[in-house]
Amino acid sequence: MIQSDVDLQPFNTMTIAARARYFCAATTLDELREALEFARTKQLPILPLGGGSNIVLTGDFPGLAVHVGMHGLEFDPLDDGIRIHAAAGENWHQLVMRSVELGYGGLENLALIPGNIGAAPIQNIGAYGVELKDTFEQLTAMEIASGDLVTFSAEDCQFGYRDSIFKRGAKDRYLICDVVLKLPRIWQPHVSYPALQQHFADHGQPLDELTPAVVANAVIDIRNSKLPNPVEIPNAGSFFKNPVVDEPLYTALKTSHPGLVAFEFGTQWKLAAGWLIDQAGWRGYVKNGVGVHDRQALVLVNPGHRCGSEVVNLAREIASDIQKKFGVTLEPEPRFYP
Ligand code: FAD
Ligand code: EPU
Repeated sequence: MIQSDVDLQPFNTMTIAARARYFCAATTLDELREALEFARTKQLPILPLGGGSNIVLTGDFPGLAVHVGMHGLEFDPLDDGIRIHAAAGENWHQLVMRSVELGYGGLENLALIPGNIGAAPIQNIGAYGVELKDTFEQLTAMEIASGDLVTFSAEDCQFGYRDSIFKRGAKDRYLICDVVLKLPRIWQPHVSYPALQQHFADHGQPLDELTPAVVANAVIDIRNSKLPNPVEIPNAGSFFKNPVVDEPLYTALKTSHPGLVAFEFGTQWKLAAGWLIDQAGWRGYVKNGVGVHDRQALVLVNPGHRCGSEVVNLAREIASDIQKKFGVTLEPEPRFYP
């Protein structure tokens, strides 16, 4: 079951070539537990893998890479909605479209996000004004140190913007095995995001005739119009988080750059990092096979299948330029390994 010295290039959408000292594809909880036991005996670090759409491999991984591939998708109708039990290895977008086909709303704004269910809670995936946390009930995870199964409620997960306990206190301690979501019977569309409003206006779509399927298709169209399909152009989605800044910095930037795109975020402001990078002149930049997508400057691309350090060097150059030009600090969004 465990293989040695495995090429991870097919397992990351940036198509970075890097090797794992050991690799295992687990499709049952028993296989996952056995893999963890193997790693424990040899004192190896673990790299959990789903669809590989949010990782950057900066070198070979000296431990055990585990592809978490359990399958299973169940929809349980309830009086007030539907409960979905999804195993970690199921594809996220397929789950969204199944729920939409069944006539339930709640996930449609999250259509076409790449990757698997197991990774969705790690950064509380979000798009077009909706986040995983809005429909999340609980998850089951296997503790890496013991192989025990543990349940996490929504509160336990401490979800935030591109954030959860699995990036902080529980970092590297659990493998997520399944996720439970609940969608309500009575649906409220979330269509205030500017790109959605624009799309409906352009297509003459009356806002009082929306269905989950109409919103899902709009999201799919918008995403296809600006985000590169990783199968054609290697990428990991947004390379940086949208930075959250205090009022004084926001006001100063808005005064010096009236076109600044920003959204209120509690008492602070979330700036569109893509706008900053675009304004700084990076959109469409390519050098030595790595670059910045020409329709969305927040997305770094790796058409030359270059190594992780080249991608990271470009990211550093961009972040330092944004710091210099706007006084804003950019933080990477994908996880770097090792
Ligand atoms: P991977 O890349 O395999 O893993 C991501 C992280 O989770 C890693 O740290 C990994 O070790 C860990 N992990 C994976 N599976 C498990 C598990 N079962 N248990 C514990 N840890 C695990 N994200 C958004 O939020 N919104 C977007 O709109 C969005 N758009 C994207 C568009 C494109 C074109 C691309 C390439 C990416 C986009 N992303 C977006 C990022 C990415 O799709 C999400 O983060 C997704 O949840 C990653 O899923 P994955 O299975 O590919 O995870
Ligand atoms: N913009 C530019 N130039 C660019 C890119 C963006 O001017 O090159 C402007 C846009 O015109 C828009 C604003 O910046 O006014 C925001 O752009 P967009 O709507 O494309 O969203 P984003 O803030 O760049 C975030 C998420 C995406 C998510 C979209 C939709 C983060 C880090 N990224 O991008 O998530 O799909 O909103 O909700 O929060 C991901 O995480 O990988 C990802 C793709």
